[in-house]
Amino acid sequence: MVRIAAALIALASIASAQQCSGNGSVCPNGQDGVSSTYLQCNSWSGQYVSMNCAAGQVCYANPNKPGYAMCGAPGSGGSGKCTGDTAKCVAPGQTGAYQQCEKWSGQYVNANCPSGLKCYNNASNTGVYCQ
Ligand SMILES: *[C@@H]1O[C@H](CO)[C@@H](O)[C@H](O)[C@H]1NC(C)=O
Ligand SMILES: *[C@@H]1O[C@H](CO)[C@@H](O)[C@H](O)[C@H]1NC(C)=O
Repeated sequence: MVRIAAALIALASIASAQQCSGNGSVCPNGQDGVSSTYLQCNSWSGQYVSMNCAAGQVCYANPNKPGYAMCGAPGSGGSGKCTGDTAKCVAPGQTGAYQQCEKWSGQYVNANCPSGLKCYNNASNTGVYCQ
């Protein structure tokens, strides 16, 4: 316990000394699509702690959740953002990979058609089917 608390304090002091409250998060310098890290508020210390996005992703302000950051593909302009039960193919008719909207977070998550099937966008371009 003591060791964990010390590590948190060390991390918090490495990150900017910016004060925060609650458990919101922001991109460094408020810039979208640049940083592979985001600043997560540590509600216990009241300071931001620098966290890494998943490999290959960069930080965006979450358009569906004000006060929170999200990580998404570089150049997506926050194409991570989505609403409802929507999905889109990564390479229609070529691979089975698609992105499925995760309703609670408002972000796309990677998904795949069952083995051997390819992804196609449906007629309204708001969903996919595998075939
Ligand atoms: C912090 O996160 C928890 C769990 O995700 C959530 O239930 C809670 O409302 C959040 N608190 C604030 C102040 O945003
Ligand atoms: C496309 O898929 C979405 C999500 O499943 C669905 O809501 C929509 O009705 C579908 N559109 C058509 C034309 O099938």
